[in-house]
Amino acid sequence: MSVVHVIDHPLVQHKLTLMREKDRSTNSFRRLMHELSMLMAYEVTRDMPTQLIDIETPLESMRSPVIDGKKTVFVSVMRAGGGFLDGMLEIIPGARVGHVGLYRDPRTLMAVEYYLKMPDHMEERDAIVLDPMLATGNSATAAVERLKEFKPRSIRFVSLLAAPEGLRHFHAQHPDVPVYTAAIDRQLDEHGYILPGLGDAGDRLFGTK
Ligand code: URA
Repeated sequence: MSVVHVIDHPLVQHKLTLMREKDRSTNSFRRLMHELSMLMAYEVTRDMPTQLIDIETPLESMRSPVIDGKKTVFVSVMRAGGGFLDGMLEIIPGARVGHVGLYRDPRTLMAVEYYLKMPDHMEERDAIVLDPMLATGNSATAAVERLKEFKPRSIRFVSLLAAPEGLRHFHAQHPDVPVYTAAIDRQLDEHGYILPGLGDAGDRLFGTK
């Protein structure tokens, strides 16, 4: 299985280029991530199930498709996942939201969990995990492992950037989870940062550095 969808739409690529620039302000970085997440939401939800409902147009009755937004749960991997969340919620406002709090131990680069909260009835929901940087793949793998304990109907993973090493690690553990990303960069550096990348997504998003 192990599917990776690279979203190569020109608008996505253009905005990603702007985000990579080191002198971009926090405000502009945050706005671009918001816009990108809305654009990426289209691709991620492309095969979402729809159901037909009866409606009246001004001229006739018809059966027309709708999605059941409440069946979607966005799972934000804190803290950078929050930058993706608002844009996705603008596209699917009825979605539920879960949070996984993970930080990277700077020595081992392993993910350590500090928070977890999921909506009820996860087994009826399609989960879309949001984490802008799929770097070592440790947090992504840990977040999806925890999520699987709640047995959602399906799981997709969305990142802005991915490293080849991280993708390999993630899919070795979760071959059943498709990854959606705007780019696969060259490699990781010795601190687990993506090269060429865009730096620390959380710091740039929240202005903490
Ligand atoms: N997390 C980030 O924010 N940036 C990276 O390059 C890797 C992990």
